[in-house]
Amino acid sequence: MSVSVGKIKKVAGPLVIASGMGDANMSDVVRVSEERLIGEIIEMHGDEASVQVYEETSGLKPGQPVESTGAPMSVELGPGLISSIYDGIQRPLAKILEATQSNLLPRGVEVPSLDREKKWTFVPTAEVGTKLIAGDIIGTVQETEVVTQKIMVPYGIAGELTSITGGDFTIEDVIAQVTSDDGTVHDLKLMQKWPVRRGRPYQKKLNPDVPLKSGQRVIDTLFPIAKGGVAAIPGPFGSGKTVVQHQLAKWADADIVVYIGCGERGNEMTDVLNEFPELLDPKSGKSLMERTILIANTSDMPVAAREASIYTGITIAEYFRDMGYSVALMADSTSRWAEAQREMSGRLEEMPGEEGYPAYLGSRLASFYERAGRVVSIGSDGREGALSVIGAVSPAGGDISEPVTQATLRIVKVFWSLDSNLAYARHFPAINWLTSYSLYQDSLVNWFNENTNEDWGNLRGRMMSLLQDEAELDEIVKLVGMDALSSGDRLKLEAARSIREDYLHQDAFHEIDTYSSSEKMLLLMRLILAFYDRSLEALNEGVSIEKIVALPIREEIGRFKYIHEDQIDAEFKRIDEQLTSELSKLIEEKEEF
Ligand SMILES: Nc1ncnc2c1ncn2[C@@H]1O[C@H](COP(=O)(O)OP(=O)(O)OP(=O)(O)O)[C@@H](O)[C@H]1O
Ligand SMILES: [Mg+2]
Repeated sequence: MSVSVGKIKKVAGPLVIASGMGDANMSDVVRVSEERLIGEIIEMHGDEASVQVYEETSGLKPGQPVESTGAPMSVELGPGLISSIYDGIQRPLAKILEATQSNLLPRGVEVPSLDREKKWTFVPTAEVGTKLIAGDIIGTVQETEVVTQKIMVPYGIAGELTSITGGDFTIEDVIAQVTSDDGTVHDLKLMQKWPVRRGRPYQKKLNPDVPLKSGQRVIDTLFPIAKGGVAAIPGPFGSGKTVVQHQLAKWADADIVVYIGCGERGNEMTDVLNEFPELLDPKSGKSLMERTILIANTSDMPVAAREASIYTGITIAEYFRDMGYSVALMADSTSRWAEAQREMSGRLEEMPGEEGYPAYLGSRLASFYERAGRVVSIGSDGREGALSVIGAVSPAGGDISEPVTQATLRIVKVFWSLDSNLAYARHFPAINWLTSYSLYQDSLVNWFNENTNEDWGNLRGRMMSLLQDEAELDEIVKLVGMDALSSGDRLKLEAARSIREDYLHQDAFHEIDTYSSSEKMLLLMRLILAFYDRSLEALNEGVSIEKIVALPIREEIGRFKYIHEDQIDAEFKRIDEQLTSELSKLIEEKEEF
């Protein structure tokens, strides 16, 4: 490792230009000034290095030392990650605040990302004498009640397992040795490192044809995301981007959640910090934090660390993917990340692209989202893991023609378009059903047909076309008024309204409504469409639309979403029967006259 020491030549906000750095390399981590602020070299010109500094740079002066560590920006991977709260460069926030008794991160503080003292119980699963390749699992550590860390042979190492010991170890103790063919002995520890700007390798990508179920009706039914898929949530201020992200973090059927709060308000992160530990994972009954890693880089923290936080987060996520887990990563908001890039690019005096964003904005975004996927990981057992990525985008004024949204839309396969009118009308989640899409839709409908019920795709398709018909009918009503509509069309509007209000609308803060199982979704779709179909029959029998609209059962259909999961079958049966009986009564009454 070559260590190069130069001097500060110029300071411009988070950017420091250092001279005398000839021995340093692009992407090296550096320490700036006697305070040893953490930075990274993002450009080299001769012996001059442009350093992005991850801490507040005020007070830095020309002439102060800049020291390269000779190593690229890396994260520490191993037991201790789960439930951690890190800043953008993987410094443990809670630990730092505890150590310094302050609310603000002190500069240059050195606290390791993973606890060096804590002992973990390592249970070997590989036997001495086995031939191993990178990615092979040699043992496990039960990290939390719900997460078992698989300890893997690090990338670049292969050979015969020549020793392995079970017991209690720190992450720096040697737990096993691998001797490669040329006789080199490699010490394996519970911890490994990985440079954040490089995607971790895998064997191959698989088709994204399994859903990442979210328990959110509008998502799972109309615009589903696949495991390993990529989705974006663009929406104007206050339209519900963060709530959707939180809902996914809470309820998506992922084994591990990495949540990156990127440039958002501090209080939103505090919400996450307060809320997640209290929430129970529906699968395990344990606290959600037991499968979650938080990266917090709020708007009051240095802008450069925001740029790094995305890479820190996705590298940690890939590490769990490699163990064979389904990992979901949320980034809120990628616009703030792009703004950090814009700021650095401006300081570097690069030629600006659209709206001052760097010309490489699109390729940066693409290379981030490309790290998602359902993959066969390296290692000989060919385990399957998935990393799904969901990014919020905050276009100024909600104008999605701006560069960040446009660049994102060219990459992602799911677009949950949040609509300020819906949010204003308090229709949440404010996902616009006419402008959103999911390119995974076709393959995932097959999955739901096979795994939930064969009617799934049909019901979903019928709901979607009723919503589209509603939009057309609304135009007609605007022109000629409701009276001009046939009763059949009025019934259609009523059915569409029920789809919107009783199905798509979902209250994130309601104890029961916050999550719907696929079975519940199926039953509710059936009820709403049964109302439509049977009412249409009644209309044809001569029953008036006014009477159908006023049926008491409609309210019960509307309350179905608040029914506890244990009671959905019984309730479904009851409502379904009552629907039939109320309609038969209308038909009978009509015949009496
Ligand atoms: N699914 C939901 N159920 C109930 N209320 C919701 C839901 N989604 C959003 N809201 C309401 O809308 C408010 C704003 O949502 P949120 O903070 O997620 O918006 P945002 O798009 O992230 O805003 P910003 O642009 O400020 O980051 C929430 O505080 C909540 O009152
Ligand atoms: Mg928000």
